[in-house]
Amino acid sequence: MAISVKATLAPLAYVTSSGVLALTAAALEVGDVSVRFGGVVALDGVSLTVDRHEIVGIIGPNGAGKTTLFNAVCRLIAPAGGTISYAGRSLLREKASRLPHLGIARTLQGLGLWPTLTVLENVIAGSPQRTRLFADMLASPASDTRAQTTEGHAMSALGELGIADRARVYPGSLPHGVQKRVVIARALTAQPSLLLLDEPASGLSSAEVEELIVLLRELRTRMGIALVEHHVDMVMAVSDRVTVLNLGRVIASGTPAEIRANTDVSTAYLGQPVAHA
Ligand SMILES: Nc1ncnc2c1ncn2[C@@H]1O[C@H](COP(=O)(O)OP(=O)(O)OP(=O)(O)O)[C@@H](O)[C@H]1O
Ligand SMILES: [Mg+2]
Repeated sequence: MAISVKATLAPLAYVTSSGVLALTAAALEVGDVSVRFGGVVALDGVSLTVDRHEIVGIIGPNGAGKTTLFNAVCRLIAPAGGTISYAGRSLLREKASRLPHLGIARTLQGLGLWPTLTVLENVIAGSPQRTRLFADMLASPASDTRAQTTEGHAMSALGELGIADRARVYPGSLPHGVQKRVVIARALTAQPSLLLLDEPASGLSSAEVEELIVLLRELRTRMGIALVEHHVDMVMAVSDRVTVLNLGRVIASGTPAEIRANTDVSTAYLGQPVAHA
């Protein structure tokens, strides 16, 4: 359940070497959020939490509202109602561009890589420190140092994903599974305390899915993770808790074992074939 950081536990913050605000008592709290697109109710009173060092799986049939939930958290769409906070701070007052500075990173359901940028350039684009226009125009020493630091973080993220040797190539020349790693590296270069992953396993081989599970367990030691995924076996294997959406509503929330035993879930989702994006 939700950790209350609002009243009893003030969020502790420190600045990482890249200047990103990192939060040691991080918790995403989504409360009673609704999103409408015209007559379509994409989210209807959705609540969930993601604590630091926790993986929360979010599953549900196509159109259940999983990506919409991420879009609402990331301020790409405005909820019709509800609250969204991170470490006790309302995100509804923040611009989307501020989220990396608050320690929140996200991957898209598609790859979202720029084909005319190299792998390294794509990953650097995920850094909140990548540019400060006026300092960079003046080519100040601080600007040079920042560029080196940013590149160092990007290379470090590529190294963690085991693809540092692909830094100088264009993503289109790489197999799908490697491109998916680039996408995660791009999110990690922001050194997030909360990572939102939208279908990271789509299109991966079973061996690659196993490697992803190992990676997620490692990442959990440093951050909270919200994992949207159709690969239910993977979600059950790696998640501490699972929330199930159906038609914009939370129909179940609990441990993987509880979700597997939930007949509402098997009726709505687990017993049915699911299309992969
Ligand atoms: N920008 C938009 N404009 C209008 N309707 C939208 C928009 N984005 C999403 N929707 C609708 O909101 C509902 C939820 O969509 P969403 O993409 O969040 O589902 P999802 O759970 O991510 O599905 P999938 O598993 O296929 O990715 C769907 O009915 C979808 O058609
Ligand atoms: Mg989606």
